[in-house]
Amino acid sequence: MSVIIDLEKVFYSYRGGKKWALEDISLQIERGEILAVMGGNGAGKTTLCRLFNGIIPNIFAGRFLGNVTVDGENTRDAQVPRLALKVGMVLDDPDAQLFTSSVREETAFGPENLLLQPSEIIERINFALSAAGLCGFEDRSPSTLSGGEKQRLVIASALAMGGKILVLDEPLSRLDPQGAEEVISVLRDLREKYQITVIMATHDSKSASILADRICVLKNGRVAACDTAENIFANSALLEENGIQQKGGADIEKVFSVKSKSDIQQTLAVKITDFCYFFEDADVSIENINLTVADNDFIAIIGKNGCGKTTLLKSITGLLRPSSGDIFIRGKNSKELSVSGISREIGFVMQNPDSQLFTDSVFNEVSFALKNAELSGAEIQKRVQDALAAVGLTDTDAFPHALRRADRTKVVIASVIAMGCKILIFDEVDVGQDWQGCIHIMNIAKELHSKGYTIIFVTHNMSLVCDYAVRLAVMSRSGIVQYEK
Ligand SMILES: Nc1ncnc2c1ncn2[C@@H]1O[C@H](COP(=O)(O)OP(=O)(O)O)[C@@H](O)[C@H]1O
Ligand SMILES: [Mg+2]
Repeated sequence: MSVIIDLEKVFYSYRGGKKWALEDISLQIERGEILAVMGGNGAGKTTLCRLFNGIIPNIFAGRFLGNVTVDGENTRDAQVPRLALKVGMVLDDPDAQLFTSSVREETAFGPENLLLQPSEIIERINFALSAAGLCGFEDRSPSTLSGGEKQRLVIASALAMGGKILVLDEPLSRLDPQGAEEVISVLRDLREKYQITVIMATHDSKSASILADRICVLKNGRVAACDTAENIFANSALLEENGIQQKGGADIEKVFSVKSKSDIQQTLAVKITDFCYFFEDADVSIENINLTVADNDFIAIIGKNGCGKTTLLKSITGLLRPSSGDIFIRGKNSKELSVSGISREIGFVMQNPDSQLFTDSVFNEVSFALKNAELSGAEIQKRVQDALAAVGLTDTDAFPHALRRADRTKVVIASVIAMGCKILIFDEVDVGQDWQGCIHIMNIAKELHSKGYTIIFVTHNMSLVCDYAVRLAVMSRSGIVQYEK
């Protein structure tokens, strides 16, 4: 065994940062090792990843102490483009890393820029595509690939640069379970067949437990523990303290069964009949979607990346209009309702809270739509107080963007509750959220459900589905199957 990466007493704070983002980190990583980096939001995982390719300290300014040695080179002295030959980076959103029009071009891009011989370029493309399981995909446009395939293409492009180290920052967080499994199996092969060293920051306990030789748990920028996956997952106090999910996944088939057709008589919050949506630019469609959401339902919607879940949610909230079919909201056809009319019934909590926050205080945020509704000052005060109490926030003066991720989502939830919405839709709020934050949000949803709210949530996390949903809808582009507990 030989050490390929050596971190020696590393301290780093971002420019203007009041505290260390990384503090006193000493860590050795062996050649061919798979190291998972875990810990809550803001624990320092992304910052740690930025050390390995030298963008900290060479591109990010700030205060940096200690030494990082990557494959014999001290990153202080190394040029970032040179380190890119040793270390490939893969981020959470594959779309942000893909920019050419075919799989072949995408993989060739790096080697071509290195001015390699054509034969060497071809060899590298072949190696990278086969390592990523993408042989046969050469002529496909990246935009037509599934989430898992896209992420494997990002991995292939990184491998084609010739490096022996791959650093992945939450590579699975936007993938459906099948895509995640494909990526996990590629990463396992990389180590076994090609002795690639893999460092993966992740919230996903299942993949960490399957893949990692060791897990480094970060807390407030420090190493809280670094041990075998087995020992880490045996330490429930450590997991709890760092908001890490136990590794045992959930088995949907044991919890849900196909729904009998009998309960259609119930009052329905939302009813969707023969919904179709055509994406004209991409020449694909979502068809034959029939879904019933009962009043006071707690329903999870799952389905592969790209099957149209967000499109369906946006259509329910009136942000998109179906190409054909009908959506009834409390019995009224949404064709006869305005977007603002729908927004008084249905609150939409989007994947990224930041796209829904636009004022300078929690109070202004939660009261924003109320002011437009011409309510009295006293009524607005009361609604804001009640809504914030429901989500457990107290500081009305706080600057929304300075809050923690889960709290930013809570502000969005409070805003829609204050509007009087009784049907709440959550679109993958677990993405980009640590496990603890995710549980906070889901517990708020559960509490609201117990008060009579109707909850619809989209997720890829089967534990959340099993623990929270009363009913389940599995969606594909050609239909929905409904299940119940
Ligand atoms: N680009 C940046 N500029 C300033 N501060 C940052 C930046 N990125 C992260 N931080 C801060 O560094 C700390 C660690 O964050 P990060 O590495 O992103 O954690 P994680 O990836 O575990 O969620 C946090 O306090 C965060 O606010
Ligand atoms: Mg991060």
